[in-house]
Amino acid sequence: MSENKKHRIGLGVCGGIAAYKAIEVLRLLQKSGCEVRVAMTKHATEFIQPLTFRALTDNYVLVDDYAPENPDPIAHINFSQTIDLLLIVPATANTIAKFANGIADDFLSSTYLASQAPVLIAPAMNSTMWEHPATQRNVERLKSDGVFFVKPIAGELACKTVGTGKLEDVENIVKQVLNFLVQSPKSKVQSLSEPIQHSETRTQDLKNESFLITVGGTREAIDPVRFISNHSSGKMGFAVAEAAQKRGAKVTIVCGVTSVEPLENVKTILGISADEMFQAVMKELPNATIFVGAAAVADYRPASRAAAKIKKSEDVLTLELTKTPDILANVSANRHDGLLVVGFAAETENVIEYARSKMERKNLDLIVANDITRDGAGFNHDTNIATILKRGSNEKIEIPLMAKREMADRILDEVVKLRHK
Ligand code: PMT
Repeated sequence: MSENKKHRIGLGVCGGIAAYKAIEVLRLLQKSGCEVRVAMTKHATEFIQPLTFRALTDNYVLVDDYAPENPDPIAHINFSQTIDLLLIVPATANTIAKFANGIADDFLSSTYLASQAPVLIAPAMNSTMWEHPATQRNVERLKSDGVFFVKPIAGELACKTVGTGKLEDVENIVKQVLNFLVQSPKSKVQSLSEPIQHSETRTQDLKNESFLITVGGTREAIDPVRFISNHSSGKMGFAVAEAAQKRGAKVTIVCGVTSVEPLENVKTILGISADEMFQAVMKELPNATIFVGAAAVADYRPASRAAAKIKKSEDVLTLELTKTPDILANVSANRHDGLLVVGFAAETENVIEYARSKMERKNLDLIVANDITRDGAGFNHDTNIATILKRGSNEKIEIPLMAKREMADRILDEVVKLRHK
């Protein structure tokens, strides 16, 4: 990022035990080329000294407009109007409540009211406080005001209880910030001011569709102990499933090995090996109107599975591998009227060329090409970078770095366009 294009972020820090994590957020944002100014609530200064942020930003840290040492007499106006994004890490229930109700009784809450920049809030608090109807009501109100949230995650909390309320991983918060900022680098302020359209706010444009989606990696047994597999986490496939469901579609998932929680209220069938996944898909296919192959299916499996654990007797062990069924190609070859077939391609070189040839060879309607060598893209990341290609078109739809969940909606937007063609 060149000097004159630096994104300016106002980082608001509230008084919670996770306040120390704001330091890491600040450092990562700076490393990514952002210019960060920090504002703290008075309670936040009980957890960390403003001096820490001052030393790291080389700037006065704003806590109180009226502090005698404050160099700027109208700091909340000047601060709020010179930022491209107001990021709150961590946000307490109290600050969320103040923002939701327009209370401006300290520097940070006055800044919130005085700012036209988009706002991204990463809450962290005890799970009972997070789940309290008052907090949830305030969150919903802020969402309808156009504020974005990085949802807290489940885990062990500072109060030694386990539940939802933990600050999202610092890296993921920063990824989401950068995702915001890369939406439209040239006109960032204008584009950031437009709320990202989530599935909930999109119409129910998939309500007549039935999705069949393969998700995760397959596992091909060598013996009762060992297997061949890959790094797929299932995050991309589940993101597509969740987005489709939110947009009104009926969704069935055939799921290999994943590292994320399955979706609630979605029919999920296990297909751990390529063969099992293939059988499950072919059984469900007649009910589908859209097939999405997001799984990383092993192309080869051991020709035979040893009945007992293979012993370490030789220096070199040779495995004979045999091809697995190509699920996507079979779906396409057996497609019934109206079935749309969407594939993914995970590539490390000649990404577009290889993806296009896969689309043609497997007779797909659309393919999502991932260059898995790029930072933040491919296996196991919460974000992805992709290019969408469509059959019979030279168009290349570039999707920049963004959360997989956001990308899922972009992919579905293209699927909807295909359906109406
Ligand atoms: O799960 P994540 O950690 O979120 O990572 C997401 C992802 C990178 C796995 C995903 O976005 C992705 O790219 N999935 C496809 C990975 C892959 O195996 O690509 P491929 O180029 O080998 O296969 C091309 C297509 O054929 C894929 O749609 C695949 O599902 C399908 N295929 C491949 C082989 C096979 N035997 N049967 C298939 O159906």
